[in-house]
Amino acid sequence: MKPEVGIVGAGYVGMPLALVFAEAGKNVVLIDVQDDVVDGINRGVSHIGDVPSGALKQLVDDGLLGATKDYDVLKDADAILIALPTPLSSQREPDLTILSAAVGQIAPRLRRGQLVVLESTTYPGTTRECVQPILEGSGLKAGEDFHLAFSPERVDPGRSDWTTRNTPKLVGGLTPACTERAAELYRSAVDTVVPLSSPETAEMTKLLENIFRAVNIALVNELAQLCERMDIDVWEVVEAAETKPFGFMSFKPGPGLGGHCIPIDPFYLTWKAREYDFYTEFIDLAGKVNANMPYFCRSLISQALNHGAQKSLKGSRILVLGVAYKADIDDVRESPAEKIIELLRKAGSDVDYHDPHVAGFDGMRSSAYEPERYDCVVIVTAHSAIDYDDLLERAKIVVDLRNATGRNGSGNGKVWKL
Ligand SMILES: NC(=O)c1ccc[n+]([C@@H]2O[C@H](COP(=O)([O-])OP(=O)(O)OC[C@H]3O[C@@H](n4cnc5c(N)ncnc54)[C@H](O)[C@@H]3O)[C@@H](O)[C@H]2O)c1
Repeated sequence: MKPEVGIVGAGYVGMPLALVFAEAGKNVVLIDVQDDVVDGINRGVSHIGDVPSGALKQLVDDGLLGATKDYDVLKDADAILIALPTPLSSQREPDLTILSAAVGQIAPRLRRGQLVVLESTTYPGTTRECVQPILEGSGLKAGEDFHLAFSPERVDPGRSDWTTRNTPKLVGGLTPACTERAAELYRSAVDTVVPLSSPETAEMTKLLENIFRAVNIALVNELAQLCERMDIDVWEVVEAAETKPFGFMSFKPGPGLGGHCIPIDPFYLTWKAREYDFYTEFIDLAGKVNANMPYFCRSLISQALNHGAQKSLKGSRILVLGVAYKADIDDVRESPAEKIIELLRKAGSDVDYHDPHVAGFDGMRSSAYEPERYDCVVIVTAHSAIDYDDLLERAKIVVDLRNATGRNGSGNGKVWKL
């Protein structure tokens, strides 16, 4: 099979992208370094929640989708899309090692007329300053011999109303011709394509979107801490503000940021801004407030045990309910549950977790759902598979960090809410 689209990285971004192109009738090949991921795809078994195995298998059986570890297949592709992780280093600086290494694999296979698009979230300048020179090591010139663009992925895992297909796709090419070539490719599979003037504009727009979330979550998290001191229900405040039909957008407080994007991406910009003698203070302040939330939640759990059961954190049995970073998904990357469990353990608590979507986490297995066996149940992620009225019946004390118990939890003597 000669692939029309090669996608490097078969993860949360690469998989839905592959599906949407294959469903549009393109021949797609995914490249990944993990044997089990490649084997699974070729058997039609999906490892990504948003990609149903049934749909995947149909496309594999139809010969439209396949996977391999061999970069050589990219030689034949018309377009190469890169959806690789862009993490932070231990010093919280951009770590483009995976991206650079993979682009280094693409370069010797690059041929005249191909289109290369970076989809990974990263700082403005990455496509031009990092990807372009490595690709040009091939002897081919970007914008002349091959097209190069940046097009950020906007997928929201677990969401079915806005998908890869119907979420508008931004495209910023190195030259107008690069933009047009990339836009044409995406138009074949995605409902709306928004052409931009440069890769840097597209890179910065993706960061604005994520920073907007980080800052607004921090704002409401700060308010939640003040509301706790003032004995005001922050959830009621947010719900009340939501009744304003204009000029307000609702963000919910929570135990801290999670996932591969919001806790990480803003610091890509912080790092890059320093090159311009610029300090991104909103990002740093939001990071500080959000990073403090697990500590605030620990003190809430401690108060609940003190006042509700005359117990201390030390020696108490605690069930953490939900460890995925958000409801109804199985992704645990950067989940605040990890920090909360660590803090509770350091305080001497005996901690188990239960999560219907996550079988193993942090060296533990998901325990049976027996809330009555614990001194306190802490709702860290509000999966809809849990019956919260039943939880209120069975648990001794509930610390609800997500307002999962809603109005039934408010004023209920055994519930402590964030
Ligand atoms: N997950 C999201 O919701 C989301 C949303 C928007 C943007 N993004 C961004 O998209 C990018 C990819 O994120 P993701 O969540 O899909 O990551 P992921 O970890 O789910 O997937 C990355 C895949 O790349 C593979 N891989 C690693 N090194 C490789 C190599 N050298 N060659 C081939 N494959 C390799 C891994 O095995 C993995 O399967 C990141 O920059 C992320 O910030 C993610």
